[in-house]
Amino acid sequence: IRVLSVASECAPLVKTGGLADVVVALPAALAVQGVQMRTLLPGYPAVMAVLTGETEVERFDDLFGGPARLLAGQAAGLDLLVIDAPHLFDREGNPYLGPDGRDWPDNPERFAALSWVGAHVGAKGAGGWHPQILHGHDWQAGFMTEYLRRMQAGDLRTVLTIHNIAFNGPADPSRLHSLRLDPARFHSDGFEYWGAISALKAGLIGADRLTTVSPTYAEELMTPEFGLGMDGVMRHRRDALTGILNGIDESVWNPATDPAIKTYRDLKGKPANKSALRAEMSLPGSDGPLCVIVSRMTEQKGLDLVLQALPALLKGGGQLALLGSGDPALQTAFERAAKNPHVAVRIGYDEALSHRMIAGGDAILVPSRFEPCGLTQLYGLRYGTLPLVGLTGGLADTVINASPAALAQGVATGIQFSPITAEALRNALTRLCALYRDRETWSRMQANAMAQPVGWDQSARAYADMYAELIG
Ligand code: ADP
Ligand code: GLC
Repeated sequence: IRVLSVASECAPLVKTGGLADVVVALPAALAVQGVQMRTLLPGYPAVMAVLTGETEVERFDDLFGGPARLLAGQAAGLDLLVIDAPHLFDREGNPYLGPDGRDWPDNPERFAALSWVGAHVGAKGAGGWHPQILHGHDWQAGFMTEYLRRMQAGDLRTVLTIHNIAFNGPADPSRLHSLRLDPARFHSDGFEYWGAISALKAGLIGADRLTTVSPTYAEELMTPEFGLGMDGVMRHRRDALTGILNGIDESVWNPATDPAIKTYRDLKGKPANKSALRAEMSLPGSDGPLCVIVSRMTEQKGLDLVLQALPALLKGGGQLALLGSGDPALQTAFERAAKNPHVAVRIGYDEALSHRMIAGGDAILVPSRFEPCGLTQLYGLRYGTLPLVGLTGGLADTVINASPAALAQGVATGIQFSPITAEALRNALTRLCALYRDRETWSRMQANAMAQPVGWDQSARAYADMYAELIG
């Protein structure tokens, strides 16, 4: 089975979130299942700089406003197709934001170009390679199915994965022409969404199959609360939609081999990492749980709730170490909270530190208001760092709450709270501190967590089965 994965991020080359981790992990995970996956990426400077063995497979005179080339080559261990289009992608830094922190004004055209080239490769192939399936990720790949309507694409099949429905790729209707869209399809059964053009909606209505990154989020998407205006479309496409959990890259996230930490195979190795993290973060000794957070700082992630519930953690003898960046108001509020000696805050993005935090923490907090899958709670499980999470999306599907029943059966791996409010988080933090003092139960939970499968095996099989079914 030949699949072209079409995405706007790929770790470690360009990453703003978990999407990049999933995009880089899929090809290797699927190769085991007999799927040959290539990945189409925009030619950002960070991609162009590391691309090796490249050959030009196609030229475009006018790709949304300028000449472009399609290159085949390798980087990050992947077989890539890269769109070398300087007028669209030769911009340093964040893939979506300019130096002023705002979206690039031509983002609709930039990612329409990604989708257009994806469709083109689907219909015509690239350098003699012909995918059977186009698998797009998020709104950036949404227009592929629109463009395919006007190309002769034979038996080509399409899949769109929703990593986060909050980003729907809007554009003003005045751009129909510049986006090469068919004006006759700008209506509510087409890609029109509340008066605007929506790239995500185009993909949601057009793709043969839709997937999202957890079974619970798949159900949530059909409700007004989580569907954010797309819930009607999602209900309409119910039969095409499945939730397939993300895995983590166990060659990168493995406490036994992780070069960023004092490696360990079982619980006995954790205390050394905890002392090291305390020292690094200038946290004093304490007999309560050291909680860590590694996160984008946005409304989605519920970090404002942590600020409100923090006194309950500190009262229980707990401590907090946070690594994150994002919303300036939240950053400032956490920096202010760090005046307390038991709270340490690092504003920024730091891959190595994120490993030391996951290894050194007793618990990892993920109090998201919604979470399609979430990866950091999976890292936590792998490292015996118990997740305390909101009961939503992938957080509901990957953590076994320390309920009386689960404790009696000896199967708990973390704590879930619901509803996702400061009050419920306060109670959960109090529960966490109490559990931590029960050393026997805590160790049992850690051992359970470390034994829980969090890799790609099962999910790769689910994707491969879906592809096989699609091409018949
Ligand atoms: P999302 O994609 O919504 O941000 P995920 O949990 O799926 O959430 O993925 C987030 C990814 O980004 C994880 O790999 C996490 O470790 C990483 N990450 C987030 N913030 C930081 C940071 N400040 N420093 C290092 N890594 C971070
Ligand atoms: C999105 C979601 C996150 C998910 C990631 C990868 O960024 O917010 O929950 O883990 O995509 O699928």
